[in-house]
Amino acid sequence: MTNSLPAAEPYRIKVVEPLKITTIPEREQIMSDAKYNIFNIPAEDVYIDLLTDSGTSAMSQDQWAGIMLGDESYAGCRNWFHLEETIKDITGYKYVIPTHQGRPAENILTKIHIRPGMSALSNMFFDTTHANVQNKGGIARNLIADQGLDSQLDHPFKGNIDITRLESFIQSEGSQNISMILITVTCNNNGGQPVSLENLRAVRKVADKYGLPFFLDAARFAENAYFIKLREPGYSGKSIKEIAREMFSCADGCTMSSKKDGLVNIGGFLALNDEGLFRQAQSFLIQMEGFITYGGLAGRDLEALSIGLNEVLDEHYMANRVRQVHYLGNQLIESGIPVMKPLGGHCVMLDMKHLLPHIPQENFPCEAFCAALYIDSGTRAIGLGQLAFGSEDPQTGQINYSPLELVRLAIPRRVYTDNHMNVVASSVSRIYDQREQLRGMRIVWAPDMLRHFTAHLEPM
Ligand code: F0G
Repeated sequence: MTNSLPAAEPYRIKVVEPLKITTIPEREQIMSDAKYNIFNIPAEDVYIDLLTDSGTSAMSQDQWAGIMLGDESYAGCRNWFHLEETIKDITGYKYVIPTHQGRPAENILTKIHIRPGMSALSNMFFDTTHANVQNKGGIARNLIADQGLDSQLDHPFKGNIDITRLESFIQSEGSQNISMILITVTCNNNGGQPVSLENLRAVRKVADKYGLPFFLDAARFAENAYFIKLREPGYSGKSIKEIAREMFSCADGCTMSSKKDGLVNIGGFLALNDEGLFRQAQSFLIQMEGFITYGGLAGRDLEALSIGLNEVLDEHYMANRVRQVHYLGNQLIESGIPVMKPLGGHCVMLDMKHLLPHIPQENFPCEAFCAALYIDSGTRAIGLGQLAFGSEDPQTGQINYSPLELVRLAIPRRVYTDNHMNVVASSVSRIYDQREQLRGMRIVWAPDMLRHFTAHLEPM
């Protein structure tokens, strides 16, 4: 053990949650009953749930103690003042709007900024942010640098937006037709890849040059700050908190899903510097979420979040968090499995274009893999590819392809042990060894929008 970094988890386990053990024939039946959509599997039938790192963290003893300090007054509860102070201290932003998760914060921000026909620009919008831009009549444009879409290319900051493309896009559309710039840190859709401070500063310059508002989607801000500490010259001696503050200082505000780096099961916020926008946001908040000092959360939730936002900045916590994600990823790399490189902050992404090249995207290789993984070991992963982001027109036969076809193994924070990661690694390897036997899927039923959440599939 070195004198600065712990060799194992910097915490011990006080409460355990038993997991149900099922057999392969049982899981085959469960998968079929779930119409081959992993969202339809009852969570109790999942052994290792890597569906998401969102809202799935284990809270600390201090957070649980904070729950007991919940003040459930309608207006002005003490927990709100704790949270407001914490968020101002970490972000440096002047005004805070509490929300019950990330998407209402996105809804409020886009209600303020998006006008029909205008474009909003990002490295990559998360699905709900994309939908929030679209449902205000806006056009969401992803301008991630090309390296971010090549799973096999090693680059320290694959979440970076392409600054040249950003500027030429603004020039060709006209800045009056651009509503805002929003940078997702870390970039979830390509595997939790970080954005450099150099890139954020360059976005700030472009935003200033064209008079555009610039926000962060800060769901995984602390993981992003940690990668800057490890990878960006000049930052190794700075704390995660100092780096995070510098990231936030580049933007005019942020949306936050606290279900990730807030280390809580529910919560979110919008933080802003502009008082006029803040007043508008407050009136939307009251219509949509609740009063300005609770925003759809209980007082106890506000307290747990206030504590979690400080815990996530702890270097020992974060070193171990990223170590575990990379422990799983490196086992897969050693077995020759094509994963998104370098390994990201909250997940390991398996590249189905390389892993299952015999299944065309329109036959949903991600979903075929996820079904096989669940049946093999009771591990639940999610497909982020054609079913989620692509479309096929049954009339014309035209297919719009998703640029990426990735299965995400998202690791909840402080929840599973390395032994669980070993189970996942050997299960993925087993499926990899039999990959030629895997067949594609076809859609039996799907809704018009966000179809991957509820579609019914069957094996071909
Ligand atoms: N932004 C990012 C980058 C996200 O990853 C998410 C959620 C949101 C916004 C929306 O936040 O769920 O609190 O409303 N991501 C989850 C995931 C669902 O599994 O990646 P929310």
